[in-house]
Amino acid sequence: MKIGSISEELTSEKRISLTPELSKKYLELGVEIFINKNYGIHLGFHDNDYKAEGVQILEDAKEVINNSNSLILVNLPEINCIEKFRENTSLIGIFNPHGNKKKIDLLLKKKINIFSLDLLPRIAKAQSMDVLSSQANLAGYKAVIESFNEFEKVVPMMMTAAGTIPAAKVLVIGAGVAGLQAIATAKRLGAIVLATDVRQDSKEQVESLGGKFLSVEGTEDLETKEGYAKETSEDFKLKQKKLLSDTLKKMDIVICTALMPGKKAPRIINEEMFKDIQAGTIVFDLAVEQGGNSAYSEMDKIVNKNGVKIIGYKNILNKLPLSATNLYSKNLYNFFFNLYDKEKKNLNINLKDEIINKTFIQNKNT
Ligand code: NAI
Repeated sequence: MKIGSISEELTSEKRISLTPELSKKYLELGVEIFINKNYGIHLGFHDNDYKAEGVQILEDAKEVINNSNSLILVNLPEINCIEKFRENTSLIGIFNPHGNKKKIDLLLKKKINIFSLDLLPRIAKAQSMDVLSSQANLAGYKAVIESFNEFEKVVPMMMTAAGTIPAAKVLVIGAGVAGLQAIATAKRLGAIVLATDVRQDSKEQVESLGGKFLSVEGTEDLETKEGYAKETSEDFKLKQKKLLSDTLKKMDIVICTALMPGKKAPRIINEEMFKDIQAGTIVFDLAVEQGGNSAYSEMDKIVNKNGVKIIGYKNILNKLPLSATNLYSKNLYNFFFNLYDKEKKNLNINLKDEIINKTFIQNKNT
C-alpha cells in the first residue's frame, strides 16, 4: 500500500494531512509514504523530519500522485491535478461534496474512490475521526480571540481607583460545537455570556459552561433525531427576531455559528436589527461561507456598518494551522486505521460499516 500526500493551495489552506509524528504511526501499519518536497515547511516540519521517520520525499505533487494508490488530503485539488489521478486511486479528506459537484463527478467518472470526512455520522465510534468537531472547536475559540482583538474596550470587569469598567457582554447564536467552545472561551476571559439555540438540549450545556440561555418562548424543540437543528417556522423566526432585537442592543460582541448541515445558513440578524446595534459592537460570523447568519458579512473582510464591525473568514483555521493540523491529521489517521485491512495490506471498503458507508461517495451522494 502506497500512501501519498501533496501540498495544499497555500494561500487558502495552511493545514496539512500528515505530520512527522503521524507518519510513524502509518509506517507501523506496513505502508509506504510519499510527500512532495517542502510539504510541511510552512508549519516548521522539514523534509528531514519526515525522512527521519521513513517517509520518501519526491520532487513534486505529480510524482507523488503517480506513485501512490491512496492520497490523504485536506481539500480537493484543482481540476488540472485531478486529471492526473489514476483509476482506483483512493482519496481521503474534507471534500464538501455539495459545493464541489463538478470535481466529484469528474472523479467518479475516472473511477476514483472518494472518502469525504465531512459526511461522517456523529456516532460514538466515529468520535476520534470527527474532523468537523475538532475543527469547529478551534474555530469557536479563535472567533472569540479575533473578536476580542478587534474590540476597543477591555473584556473582564476591572475595578480601579479611577472607576469600574463593566465586563463585556457576549451573545453566542447557535450552541453546537463551535458555539459551546466560544462560550467557554469568552467566559474564561471574563465576559458575561448569553447564548441561544433552537435545540432545547443545548440549554443545559450552555448553563454548565456558565452562560445564560435565551429561549424563544412558546416554541417546540427543533431537534432532529440525529441531533441537528430542524428548519424553523415563520412563527419561530418572528419570536426569535423579537428576542434577539432586544438583546442585541445591549451586546458588545456577537458570535454567529447557527447552521443546519448541507443547507444555507439561516439569516438571523437582518438589516433592520442592525439599526439598533450600538457602535463599537463586533459581530463575528462563522457561517459566512454558507451565506452568513448576519446581514453585511462578507468573506475575508471586516465590514464597518455605522461603527459596528462585522467579521467573517472563509477559513479561520488558517489562523491556527498548527493546532488544526495536529487534530486533523489524527482524525484522518483514525479514519484510515478503520478502513485499512492489515492482513491484506489494502483498503477494505466494507459498506456494512456505517462510517465507511456514509463517507464513501458513490453516485447516490452527489
Ligand atoms: P453545529 O451543527 O455543531 O452547530 C450549529 C448550531 O446552530 C446547532 O446547535 C444548531 O441547533 C444551531 N442552529 C441552527 N439553526 C439555528 C437558528 N435558526 N437559531 C439558533 N441556532 C440555530 O455546527 P458547528 O460545527 O458548531 O459549526 C458552526 C458554524 O461554524 C458552521 O456554519 C460551520 O461551517 C462554521 N465553521 C466555520 C469555519 C470557518 O473557518 N469559517 C470553521 C469551522 C466551522
